Amino acid sequence: MKKGFIFDLDGVIVDTAKYHYLAWKKLANELGFEFTKEQNELFKGVSRKRCLEILLDIGKREATKKEFDTWMISKNEDYLKYIENMDESEILPDVPKILEYLKENNIPIALGSASKNAQPILEKVGLLSYFDTIVDGNNVTKAKPDSEVFLLAAKQLGVNSNDCVVFEDAVAGVEAANAANMISIGIGDENVLSEAQFNFADFTEISIDFIKDLIEN
Ligand code: BG6
Ligand code: MG
Repeated sequence: MKKGFIFDLDGVIVDTAKYHYLAWKKLANELGFEFTKEQNELFKGVSRKRCLEILLDIGKREATKKEFDTWMISKNEDYLKYIENMDESEILPDVPKILEYLKENNIPIALGSASKNAQPILEKVGLLSYFDTIVDGNNVTKAKPDSEVFLLAAKQLGVNSNDCVVFEDAVAGVEAANAANMISIGIGDENVLSEAQFNFADFTEISIDFIKDLIEN
């Protein structure tokens, strides 16, 4: 049975959560309220639009449609400034090792991300060529925890959805993978990602033997 591997981007391949945080914090401060790192946890895996809705709830702010759209744009402009100079030094440890092993073994690889900035980030860090297909915030209508992003990735890889393995750092992403009947691998805090089938703090904990097992069984 052919296996497919699907990677989330933010928090799995690169630590962009810190840049998303800084950009949302700037907007919150401009609107006159605080936004903490703890609150930022709620934003992981969540679409830009949903993030702004949550942010406005936190600040108890109402927005007209025009304000909402303006704030979405300004947050993204700030985020783009933060990621502008990203390079390969921002790839999380041992991610290239796993991608390289999969590539050498002709295992199809997809990106399954909520971000509309996914492709330029992969280009900046020099990992784009590893991916056979990219499904991101520009291709889906339903955000994680809906499984649309991963089901589409499986389809584009030409692999049965239940033969796919998903790496995720967000609760919403693990839920999306589980809903698609895929093998979910939580990257990060296992207490937070308790719904994942396997948990690792980061890729340095993942052995090639473990990946081999996933491919073969
Ligand atoms: C996800 C992040 O990958 O992408 C979220 O975990 C982010 O925090 C979402 O809101 C959308 O990203 P972007 O780049 O389209 O604003
Ligand atoms: Mg993520």
